[in-house]
Amino acid sequence: MCKIGVLVSGRGTNLQALLDAQNEGNLGGEVVLVVSNRSGAKGLERARAAGIKTEVLTRLHYPDKDEYDAKLIEVLIENNIDLVVLAGFMRILTERFILAFENKIINIHPSLLPAFKGVRAQWQAVDYGVKISGCTTHFVDRDIDAGPIIMQRAVPVASDDDGDSLAERILEHEHEILVESVRLFCENRLEIRGRKVIIKE
Ligand code: GRF
Repeated sequence: MCKIGVLVSGRGTNLQALLDAQNEGNLGGEVVLVVSNRSGAKGLERARAAGIKTEVLTRLHYPDKDEYDAKLIEVLIENNIDLVVLAGFMRILTERFILAFENKIINIHPSLLPAFKGVRAQWQAVDYGVKISGCTTHFVDRDIDAGPIIMQRAVPVASDDDGDSLAERILEHEHEILVESVRLFCENRLEIRGRKVIIKE
């Protein structure tokens, strides 16, 4: 069984989608650990309510980025994590971390990459005036929001959308493609060939 570690910083609705799928027997793996860099993250409450082990690692404990990531790697290895999911984790990981879990880190991003990388992607999309945005799951590599794409979902932008309304509509799709991408990973059906991710039958 694929052991999943989820990293969160905030409300944790993507984490919740994974936990719900797991409860329904649809995840193909098991979330065994949730780590947050913020002690007040709602995602931690969700994990505790589901009886899942949690860890809080803040920058107060480890102000140095390398030491922070070394500790994070240690915690994940101790828990035999096969897949790391970034579900709204608002920290940039060091190269050391990315190499330690090469091709084993999945991120969810609320735009159709490579458009609107970085924070507040839904607000960026509204400000730019695009007619279609969406969400992307991808493997994490050294560059931010740039690793090989696993799944994408298009979401139309309405003329009266603001960032909040668009974010809310995209979120539902995030939950679906994140669960599906994790399941495909756990079923060993994702093959990375250069920039492309092949979904095997
Ligand atoms: C999501 O929009 C995700 O795409 C982005 O941060 C948000 C996290 O939401 N990276 P939640 O904490 O999963 O509710």
